[in-house]
Amino acid sequence: MCGIVAYVGERTAYPIIIKGLQRLEYRGYDSAGIALVNGKINVYKCKGKVMDLEKLSQDKDISGSMGMGHTRWATHGEPSDTNAHPHKSMKGKFYVVHNGIIENYAHLRKELQNRGYKFTSETDTEILANLIENIYFEQKVSAELAVRLALTKVVGAYGLVIFCEDEPGTLIAARKGSPLVIGVGEKEYFLASDATPIVEYTDQVIYLNDEEVAVITREKLELKNLYNDSKTPDIKTIELSIENIDKGEYEHFMLKEIHEQPVTVQETFRGRVAMDESKIFLGGISDVMPKLLEAKRIVIVACGTSWHAGLVGEYLFEKYARIPVEVEYASEFRYRDPIIFDNDLIIAISQSGETADTLAAIRKVKDSRATILGICNVAGSSISRETHAGVYTHAGIEIGVASTKAFTSQITVLTMMALLLGHKKQILSTEEYQKLIHELTLVPDKIREVLAIEDQIEKIAATYKDASNALYMGRGALFPVALEGALKLKEISYIHAEGYPAAEMKHGPIALIDEKMPVFALALNDNNYEKMISNIQEVKARKGKVIAVVTKGDKAVKSMADHVIEIPEAHEAIAPMISIIPLQILAYHIALMRGCNVDQPRNLAKSVTVE
Ligand code: AGP
Ligand code: GLU
Repeated sequence: MCGIVAYVGERTAYPIIIKGLQRLEYRGYDSAGIALVNGKINVYKCKGKVMDLEKLSQDKDISGSMGMGHTRWATHGEPSDTNAHPHKSMKGKFYVVHNGIIENYAHLRKELQNRGYKFTSETDTEILANLIENIYFEQKVSAELAVRLALTKVVGAYGLVIFCEDEPGTLIAARKGSPLVIGVGEKEYFLASDATPIVEYTDQVIYLNDEEVAVITREKLELKNLYNDSKTPDIKTIELSIENIDKGEYEHFMLKEIHEQPVTVQETFRGRVAMDESKIFLGGISDVMPKLLEAKRIVIVACGTSWHAGLVGEYLFEKYARIPVEVEYASEFRYRDPIIFDNDLIIAISQSGETADTLAAIRKVKDSRATILGICNVAGSSISRETHAGVYTHAGIEIGVASTKAFTSQITVLTMMALLLGHKKQILSTEEYQKLIHELTLVPDKIREVLAIEDQIEKIAATYKDASNALYMGRGALFPVALEGALKLKEISYIHAEGYPAAEMKHGPIALIDEKMPVFALALNDNNYEKMISNIQEVKARKGKVIAVVTKGDKAVKSMADHVIEIPEAHEAIAPMISIIPLQILAYHIALMRGCNVDQPRNLAKSVTVE
């Protein structure tokens, strides 16, 4: 989902910007560009990858200690050299890079055309560049005021870095709905869409808030809002380190993140589960605990993998805290007219904390009296800052577009919340509570056991890499795992895959079964085991191929399935976190064998910050 990197300071800007754009590649994009200031302004931009931009620019004038770069995820105008950013205003005074969408672009363009403005691109961004310039000339104001006045006319979302030819040492940054982080160095500032391009230079950052504008030179940073009210920068120290954003010994970020899960699940509950496993404490929600204990309903809003984690949460909260749960696609919830009660608990789950639909969903209910929590992985992200309270997943930066470690960490947080509320509401006895806490602490080692049989899973992947379709089925809390396994396969291997409640197969999907249809079945020795055996037999009776995830030592399923993947015995409360691991590995290897770009699958972006 596009990216911005900018620099002003004493170093040469080009390598910082190019390397920063490469660190943002995981966000997904279709073209790239850079503008460098050194007396004159040099702009290089093209459709394609950052490496194409490098080829285009490296033997040209790339000097200058100020500049800005952009990776575009086209919304207005096809990916092309002309539509790539930076965009220059018609009279050449302003240069703009933009993440987001100017929704009232057509109206603004018409206004500007009536004032004689011409456009060279099809983008909404160029319209903004010309709007700023038009105000700059007509109202004879400073560049920064022209930017602020222009933005008061804009409807939509933006992360922007702008510079004006008349103020060569100054960068202007603004944000509304599309994240921007400012890195604070010694006589130098870095700007980026997230912290990854910044971490190797400084750990001091400022997260721009909506409708804030920063005016930055190498000597100083001035922060204000659109209405010229000064704001005090809230400088935070980030914990991210450079090794967090490198692949290390792994071929892909996704494989690294799959293998990180024993550690990241541990990190999620570290400091939140007492050493003697006697209790859970979630500091992030302690202030609102009275409201949580009064909650008569939980409404979970999320998208994609996070929505699947929410479905697992539904089972957990209903079983262990006896609170009714509704899990909503945020993209649907935001456009409905939902009924929200004062004692509702709204939980937004989002790895990036920037997903536009999820952010819009919580903004939809922020004026209600409901309590709104966030479960996010990125500290300082919009959703984490716009909820009343929340719990960070602490999974570390997740770069692979296909979410893996965030999913297991999200479920870890949901499990801790369900157990904590269940015990405080005296649904769970202390003995039951502590037994379940102990089960949770076993998750890292159980995941390790599954990771240890990756080569067996890879062999199974080879058998099914050429499938055109696949079905995933599970029951109870493993039904969301079936959905998540299907999403992993389809989003990185481009095989059409569907997850289904196993009992639903006879209501239609079983018509799809033939000898070419692989069916991945989650058949653990839980209270759905016998029914899963029947479902597997129904598939086999129609010549379907069954790949079953079973509990180690299973014999019955082994005698009927085409392949089994044995995972360690797991209490039902933690089974979703263990049983997703083989499905993540399967999807990874099938996609690799199909020559797909595992970390940056086609058409997808890591953080969907547009509608
Ligand atoms: C999952 O593998 C996908 N990348 C996608 O479905 C993702 O989960 C969804 O876009 C939600 O993202 P978020 O968790 O950052 O809000
Ligand atoms: N809407 C702008 C365009 O289409 C920016 C898209 C993006 O966020 O990269 O160029």
